[in-house]
Amino acid sequence: MEILSEDVMNGWTLYHLKSENVKVQILNYGATLVNLSTKDHQGKFNNIVLSYDDLSDYEQNEYFFGSIIGRVAGRIKDGKFSINDQTFQLDQNEGEHHLHGGESGFHNKLWTGEIIEHPHCVSLKLTHESKAGEAGYPANVKAIVYYHLYQDGTLEIEYEAEADEDTIITLTNHTYFNLQADHTETIDSHEVTMNTSRYLTLNEALIAEKVQGVEEESTFNFKQARSLADGLYKGEEQNKLVNGYDHLFLFDNDQGKVELYEPLSRRMMTIETNAPAVVMYTTNAPVQLNEQTKKQHIGVCFETQGPPASLWLNDLPSIIIRKDEKYKQRTTYSFTTQ
Ligand code: GLA
Repeated sequence: MEILSEDVMNGWTLYHLKSENVKVQILNYGATLVNLSTKDHQGKFNNIVLSYDDLSDYEQNEYFFGSIIGRVAGRIKDGKFSINDQTFQLDQNEGEHHLHGGESGFHNKLWTGEIIEHPHCVSLKLTHESKAGEAGYPANVKAIVYYHLYQDGTLEIEYEAEADEDTIITLTNHTYFNLQADHTETIDSHEVTMNTSRYLTLNEALIAEKVQGVEEESTFNFKQARSLADGLYKGEEQNKLVNGYDHLFLFDNDQGKVELYEPLSRRMMTIETNAPAVVMYTTNAPVQLNEQTKKQHIGVCFETQGPPASLWLNDLPSIIIRKDEKYKQRTTYSFTTQ
């Protein structure tokens, strides 16, 4: 096990975490995962997350590659919400709506890093203090994100936050996975399994409209492994609307699980979380990786989080955090080959 830090451009620090079979790189700007390398079935070691060739591209990072998203991941309708009969207007950074914490969201902050070494795990602790009024949100918030890399190669992201007034918080990580590790190839052949019987349908502005149960034959049914190609190319109206998947799925119990398998590399990733939901996003608009490559459907994100739509739809897990209450979330990613 090893953890070291390197000063890079802009005064940013790049942290390298290593176990025997997994290597991780994290930038303190945006608390961003910029490299996650694992072995394929032949032992070839490659980066399985979309990343820019040039680190300075993370300053804009218009696709949120690998970043921590906050204070609220996802879209808030009209950028408006109420707590205790008080209404707050957030930055409207996507039409009249609020997306991923606004222009000044957590992905655009320089976090303070601290290295922690344990016997079976190396950890990076990243802290950000967000002032009341930032992007329109109430309360001063102290957010801490830990990246733990265990000896067996499991990566854990642990989120904690505290507020000095009632507010809303749901954090996530916006990594795009491509288990083939050839980032010019699409994720069409990747297979997904999730314990999710319900998802939220979207309108044209990608705002969640209602809770929908999944039918046995639906391209939104992932109870058994389903190839992403089903929804990307011959999907239902909801797939066509977004050119793939960009939907929030609700876990059936408090042990959320997602499995992602890619048949060529035979890599399997298992995600486990105590978050109530996951947004699956399939790179529905082309992303520019470098000068040569601009392509859609080349990565899949699993944004484990709570549903922002709980602010305007009934019976969904809340994202309200009361004064002095602790927000906690953890998600683990483990890697095997078949
Ligand atoms: C999220 C959203 C998508 C898109 C991406 C970033 O996953 O749900 O609609 O905005 O971020 O490109």
